[in-house]
Amino acid sequence: MLIKKPDDIKPSEITSESVYQERRRFLGMAAAGTALLASGGILLPQHGFSATPDLKSLGKLQKSPFSTGEELSTFEEITTYNNFYEFGIFKDDPVRKADLLKTDPWSVEIAGEAEVTGTFNLEDILKPHPLEERIYRLRCVEAWSMVVPWVGFPLGELIKRFKPTSKAKYVAFTTLYDPTQFPGQNYKTLKWPYVEGLRIDEAMHPLTILAVGLYGKEMPNQNGAPIRLVVPWKYGFKSIKSIVKITFSEQQPQTSWTISNASEYGFYSNVNPAVDHPRWSQKRERRIGEFLKRETLPFNGYADQVASLYSGMDLKKHY
Ligand code: MTE
Repeated sequence: MLIKKPDDIKPSEITSESVYQERRRFLGMAAAGTALLASGGILLPQHGFSATPDLKSLGKLQKSPFSTGEELSTFEEITTYNNFYEFGIFKDDPVRKADLLKTDPWSVEIAGEAEVTGTFNLEDILKPHPLEERIYRLRCVEAWSMVVPWVGFPLGELIKRFKPTSKAKYVAFTTLYDPTQFPGQNYKTLKWPYVEGLRIDEAMHPLTILAVGLYGKEMPNQNGAPIRLVVPWKYGFKSIKSIVKITFSEQQPQTSWTISNASEYGFYSNVNPAVDHPRWSQKRERRIGEFLKRETLPFNGYADQVASLYSGMDLKKHY
């Protein structure tokens, strides 16, 4: 997501204490010469973190035919350069603070327009769903991308179990709210908890998955453990992390980035090189780990599978 330097954060968005704290940190890191290297609009952390200890292997996984054959981003790239504002606004905040998040036990509430609702242990959510490995691109609105071997299962399969009613036109998702585990929630960078939403046909599309791991192992906390969404044809912010609630609704749900800035972030947020972000072009992207930029593809390269979901819609208007 958009990287705001501390000086860019409007007073209305953030408390004076948080400005003070983040500015101190930014200046400290810069002074140490270790912090951030500006690179074509992308800030790359210069770090020495070894990403994420002791992740359980998820066993033998089915390989998905939906996978791309592109070269994978490395485990280190995927787990040390993250957007997870609950841990802070810098790309290395999530990996540095990840162990604050406790993911066991974990439960997910199913609510709204469905025949079956209630709160379920993560084990009960996962049990009936065989896990598979799906290699998907993640394209962020900041114009960087990665190729990630996600482990997960289709969201649509889960949705069917809860029997949404005919009123269920949308599916909304909510991230855990707990400022003791998520220090970023002590600052008003976003309205917490983080929320996202999909139209129900987008949620039922076989490319939309709930991911519980990557590289064959359980999900690192900084990538959204224990369960997150991955919608590969949309900008990365739709792929909400650490989900605690799924709600079926008749009305289009609110989403965190639209609440934050509706003129820059729309509900659909399909990857679209023809529609610029108001402050930068979306025509090209930098694959993390590569030097040269590449052309961004409509729907992040998944147009053959998903463009029909939007037939007749003006995607400049519904950005
Ligand atoms: N989910 C929550 N709860 N909070 C966040 O800040 N950032 C989003 C998305 N999901 C975010 C989130 C953004 S902007 C992106 S690009 C992806 O997570 C990044 O996922 P990754 O860190 O696994 O690459």
